[in-house]
Amino acid sequence: MASPGASAGQQPLEPVEDPVVDRQKRAAAQAAAEMVADGMRVGLGTGTTVAHLLPALAERGLREVSCVATSPATERAARALGMTIRTLDELGELDVAIDGADQIDPLGWLVKGGGAAHTREKIVAAAARSFVVIASAEKAVDMLSAPVPLEVMRFGMQSTLAALAPARLRPRPADGSADDGTSPWQESPDGGLIADYLGPVGDPRELSRRMSDTPGVVGHGLFAPEMVSVILIAHEDRVERRSGAKLESQP
Ligand code: 5RP
Repeated sequence: MASPGASAGQQPLEPVEDPVVDRQKRAAAQAAAEMVADGMRVGLGTGTTVAHLLPALAERGLREVSCVATSPATERAARALGMTIRTLDELGELDVAIDGADQIDPLGWLVKGGGAAHTREKIVAAAARSFVVIASAEKAVDMLSAPVPLEVMRFGMQSTLAALAPARLRPRPADGSADDGTSPWQESPDGGLIADYLGPVGDPRELSRRMSDTPGVVGHGLFAPEMVSVILIAHEDRVERRSGAKLESQP
């Protein structure tokens, strides 16, 4: 999982990690970039795996590709590569969304939000006919576990977190963030506070329902298999392709 010290606005898009893992992230990202065609509307996730996707996509020189970014960091990096960024409301439906994950279980459940962008990422994934997940091999786990990222409203945040105990707010990144710098807690670009649920995950569907039903929760990082079309997991020698439960809808 990405460092909890990173924010959706500031998560480093330059990979800074184990070269083996970094190579795997690049391989998964390149495989996903090959799935994009001329004229597509593309959702771009956030994180170090997506950091490899952006140049891989830009290098393809596709025509009339429009993208929606899930974080200020992704938007900045994509614009710097000359990619066209629009809002989700301008584009409406997307052809494909491509994003990383922190954990992937054998049924296709995901934990996302290490980079604090999970609320936007879920909105973008849901707006896409196809959602492609890209990951290095260590993201595939037998069972999901904490932390599960949350975004909560500032109003009543302690009550919200108490309803999901054990859970705690994420400290604001030391290296600055997209906000005004006064909050001790990490914020999303949309004003929510980022927190982590630290209890047992057990049945992810039940936990997902509980989180969604808790007043004050804006979003959480559990993504159900029905949201996912394809999972590309890169190993040292190959990119494994798993089918998700979301069938690509027809335009
Ligand atoms: C950001 C995310 C990322 O996709 C997730 O944290 C994986 O990050 P990385 O590609 O850096 O390992 O959910 O909110």
